[in-house]
Amino acid sequence: MKNIIVLLLVILFSGDLLSQRKYVKPEFVKNWSKPGRHPDHIVLNFSEDPATTISVTWRTSKEVKSAYGEIAKAHANPAFIGRAEVFEATTENINYSNVVGKYDRDDPKKNIFNTINHNYHSITFRELEPNTIYAYRVGDGKIWSEWVQFKTAHKSNAPFSFLYVGDAQNYVLELWSRLIRESYRKAPDASFIIHAGDLIDDAHDEHQWHEWFMAGGYIHRTLPSMMVPGNHEYNPFVQQDIDDNIKRLSVQWNKQFTLPNNGVMGIKETNYYIDYQGVRFLALNSNMMIEEQAKWLEQVLKNNPNKWTVATFHHPIFSASRGRDNEELRTLWKPIFDKYGVDIALQGHDHTYTRGRVQPYEQNLLSGQNVKDVTGTVYVVSVSGGKMYKVKPGWEQYEALRDKVGNNKQLFQVISVDGDKLSYKSYTAIGELFDAFDIIKNKEGVNSFVERKNEAL
Ligand SMILES: [Fe+2]
Repeated sequence: MKNIIVLLLVILFSGDLLSQRKYVKPEFVKNWSKPGRHPDHIVLNFSEDPATTISVTWRTSKEVKSAYGEIAKAHANPAFIGRAEVFEATTENINYSNVVGKYDRDDPKKNIFNTINHNYHSITFRELEPNTIYAYRVGDGKIWSEWVQFKTAHKSNAPFSFLYVGDAQNYVLELWSRLIRESYRKAPDASFIIHAGDLIDDAHDEHQWHEWFMAGGYIHRTLPSMMVPGNHEYNPFVQQDIDDNIKRLSVQWNKQFTLPNNGVMGIKETNYYIDYQGVRFLALNSNMMIEEQAKWLEQVLKNNPNKWTVATFHHPIFSASRGRDNEELRTLWKPIFDKYGVDIALQGHDHTYTRGRVQPYEQNLLSGQNVKDVTGTVYVVSVSGGKMYKVKPGWEQYEALRDKVGNNKQLFQVISVDGDKLSYKSYTAIGELFDAFDIIKNKEGVNSFVERKNEAL
């Protein structure tokens, strides 16, 4: 009888105990993130014309001193691999000791210093045929990756869709993994992924980059990534930087990604543009040289032959969370977005969801004009990782309209462009539709805005 009472008590209270259990971060085995001879961290990027080129970058141990990529038009018949062409990769070593990994500005005792010593390899495959499925593999000539398929872009303005995610940053392996995998399940035909900064938490921490690569798995090697750095991609690099209060771009960034080199000098591969099937994508580095990028924006928007323009950067023009504002960015970049009609800005940083807009060619939105039908730049902040902040009050102070907010949701976005219509959908980590709207462009290039409220929101 006594035993039965004890058992009943255990059953009654075990639910409570579980729900109140303190969350403990998982530990990792020693050397979990160290590379070997087998290629890992394989990632596709657009570097130049996405219809005819693609870049692939990967990581190995330092023993792999020469590396190669093979590429062929993919075919149902596996014999296609016999027609592959071989290209030699560019190999770069990084070798640093006492690099700041996990960084805590407020408690120096918590800082962790690491040694990094391994190789990165990269190839830009050129002279590809547009709208064609290719397969590639990478390796040292003996040890190879699997054959990975991807599709080149159309040369003309054909319809397409792409994914956009905000900060991965925290709990990357634990919780960002489910989000990025659900996004690929929801939009397997997406042409590429935009990452709007803060991919990890501590810029130079190889372990956290390994989490990012493991969480995305083969998605990183089959869908090209278009990424910009957030503030968390900038940290002190060595003790001297901590003493001098200097932050530097993640030591891995330029080595492990092969991004376009058409931005402002001095911030290579963090500011660039890509034209994809009728859309100009502007990737901006909101951490530094923002005045120089304002001038660059003028140049690349003045002669923009594309119907649509999408901008991505980390710090939002209209902040979403309490205690945050980026007035300098708003002062420098927003007038250029207004002037040239940037259609949508995809941002991160604030660990919540907000979506709103301004009227075209107008600073003052509250002047009695009909802002329901005509819209200027739509501004979105979204978060994909596990850290959440609270939404702050509206955007009235900025004379902008905030149409949608969301708290405590890991989200990804699927954006489709088809002729005069851009369709936007935001989904939660479990695949529920959370937000949706369309932008319709008329012959004069003026945008109408259609909120999709009835679509199971
Ligand atoms: Fe951030």
